[in-house]
Amino acid sequence: MTNTPIIAIIGTGNMGSSLINGLIKSGHPAHKLWGTCPNKEKLEQLHHYFHIHTSTNNIKACESADVIIFAVKPQIFQAVAMELAPTIQKHRPLIISIVSGISINSILCSLGKNIQVVRAMPNIPALIGAGATALYANTDVSKQQLNTAESILRSVGIIVWLPQEKLMDVVTALSGSGPAYFFLVMEALQQAAQQLGLPQETALLLVKETALGAARMAIESDHSLEELRQKVTSPGGTTEKAIAVLEENQIRKIFEKAIQAAVRRSEELG
Ligand SMILES: NC(=O)c1ccc[n+]([C@@H]2O[C@H](COP(=O)([O-])OP(=O)(O)OC[C@H]3O[C@@H](n4cnc5c(N)ncnc54)[C@H](OP(=O)(O)O)[C@@H]3O)[C@@H](O)[C@H]2O)c1
Repeated sequence: MTNTPIIAIIGTGNMGSSLINGLIKSGHPAHKLWGTCPNKEKLEQLHHYFHIHTSTNNIKACESADVIIFAVKPQIFQAVAMELAPTIQKHRPLIISIVSGISINSILCSLGKNIQVVRAMPNIPALIGAGATALYANTDVSKQQLNTAESILRSVGIIVWLPQEKLMDVVTALSGSGPAYFFLVMEALQQAAQQLGLPQETALLLVKETALGAARMAIESDHSLEELRQKVTSPGGTTEKAIAVLEENQIRKIFEKAIQAAVRRSEELG
C-alpha cells in the first residue's frame, strides 16, 4: 500500500458522506477517494462539492482501492459484499465495515476467507467531526493497516480499540445509540423548564449550552464524573434536591435497563 491509500466508500449516506467530509478535511487527496451509491444525482453533488471520484458501479470504484469501507444498511450488506467478493479476493484491500450488527465472521462468509477486516462502530456526531468510534480487527490485519483504519476513523472524531468483538454490542448500545439518550434528556429538561415559565428558546439554549459545558468539563477535567457531580452538588442546595429525586426514581436502574435492552437488540440483529 502506498502512503496515501486509495479509499472506496460503498454507500454515501449519512455515515459515508461524513467520512468523505472528514477525510478531505484531514488532507486526504480527493483523487484518492471514491464514493458510491445508486443515486446519480447525489453522486454528482458529492463530486461537485468534494471533487472525489464517484460511481454507481461498486466494482469499478473498488478495482484500484487499497481500502474499501462498507457504509450501507445491514439489510443490503450481504448482496453488496457478494457482488464485490471476486474483486476483493483478487486485489485483497483492507476492509472496514461500519455496518451495524454484521460480525467479522459474516463479513468473511460473504467476501471469502483470509481477508483483512476491521469493524468500526461510529456514531452520528461523526457528521460534525465529533464522533466516537470503537474498532475491532481480525488477526489478519497488519500493524500498518491498523494505523490506516485508525487514521480514517480519526478524521471524524476519537477512536478506541476493543479487546473482543462481542463488546461491539455494548458499544452500539452506549455510544452508537447514545446521542439519542442525551437528546431525550435535553428534551425532558427543556420541557420541564418551559412548564415552569421559561420561554422555549431560552430553555433550549440553556439546555444545549449546559450539556456542552458539562461534556467539555468531563473531557477536559482530571476529576472523575462522580467528583464533578459532587462539586456542583452543595449540601442542602438545589442540585442536591434534584439529584435526590433522580436517585429515588432509580435513574441508574433505568439507564442500566435501557442499555441492556439495546445490547439485546443489537445481538438479535447480528
Ligand atoms: N447513522 C448512525 O448513527 C450509524 C452509526 C453507526 C453505524 N451505522 C451504520 O452505518 C451504515 C450506514 O448508515 P447511514 O446512517 O449512513 O445510512 P444511510 O444514510 O441510509 O446510507 C446508506 C447509503 O447506502 C446507499 N446504498 C444503497 N444501496 C447501495 C448499493 N447497492 N451500493 C452502494 N450504496 C448503496 C444508500 O443510497 P440510497 O439512499 O440512494 O439508497 C445510502 O446512500 C449502516 O449499516 C448503519 O448501521 C450508522
